[in-house]
Amino acid sequence: MLTPGPIGVFDSGYGGLTILSEIQSLMPQYDYYYLGDNARAPYGSRSFDVVYNFTRQAVLTLFDMGCNLVILACNTASAKALRTIQQNDLPNIDPDKRVLGVIRPTTEIVGSLTHKRHIGILGTAGTIQSESYNIEINKLHPDIKVTGHACPMWVPLIENKEYNSIGADYFIQKDLNTILEQDPLIDLLILGCTHYPLLINKITKFLPDNIKVISQGKYVAESLKEYFIRHPEMDAACSKQAKTHYYTTEYPDKFSETASIFLNKTIEVERIELE
Ligand code: DGL
Repeated sequence: MLTPGPIGVFDSGYGGLTILSEIQSLMPQYDYYYLGDNARAPYGSRSFDVVYNFTRQAVLTLFDMGCNLVILACNTASAKALRTIQQNDLPNIDPDKRVLGVIRPTTEIVGSLTHKRHIGILGTAGTIQSESYNIEINKLHPDIKVTGHACPMWVPLIENKEYNSIGADYFIQKDLNTILEQDPLIDLLILGCTHYPLLINKITKFLPDNIKVISQGKYVAESLKEYFIRHPEMDAACSKQAKTHYYTTEYPDKFSETASIFLNKTIEVERIELE
């Protein structure tokens, strides 16, 4: 029997805050530990082994801190590390604990959102190269054509607070043009990186009105709520005092300042080491 603990929410940096805030607003009663591995972000262009090792360290740390459930609020980690952690690591670490990702909840809802059956995925190089979205979407909807495009400049623009600059306009326009040249029939674009919702105003500004753009937070939150209904034992293993603590592997002051842009509030942050 698990001792109730906070829900762990992990990302390479700030992006997972876009997921955490949606989960919190749907389920404010739970406790959360948010962990950003800012010292080693971005993960997007790192190899499978490196992303897996960093993610495994983060999951083990959150488990040691008392979490029984960890959400990988990072597409790159979900694409490159989730399956190995679920299948190879969890049975040895603690078969009752759970790790969930953000890709499956997103792919489950796309079927009703595309009329032309042409979807575009924007993400990090790691997420796009893994083809996780193509595989998961085509398992459910073999008729949908999925085109992925990596936007390696977008996360650094956000992590360095340059996402409102003219420089950001250049890269966003360039990447959107590229994916629409690859498939001009796309009518649904998925922001397959948890950092990208910060760019949503610019993204929609550069797109024709007939293309719908979706972020993942809302869908991940709804899917977690349903998960708790299907798994009351895990719901009971998540403590509920409506408290959230934030941890980073880099400077806490910098994290607090940048995170306030994502969360629209000031937060206290602690530094921790992952090893
Ligand atoms: N926010 C992460 C994602 O959803 C990764 C960003 C990065 O570290 O490159 O993919």
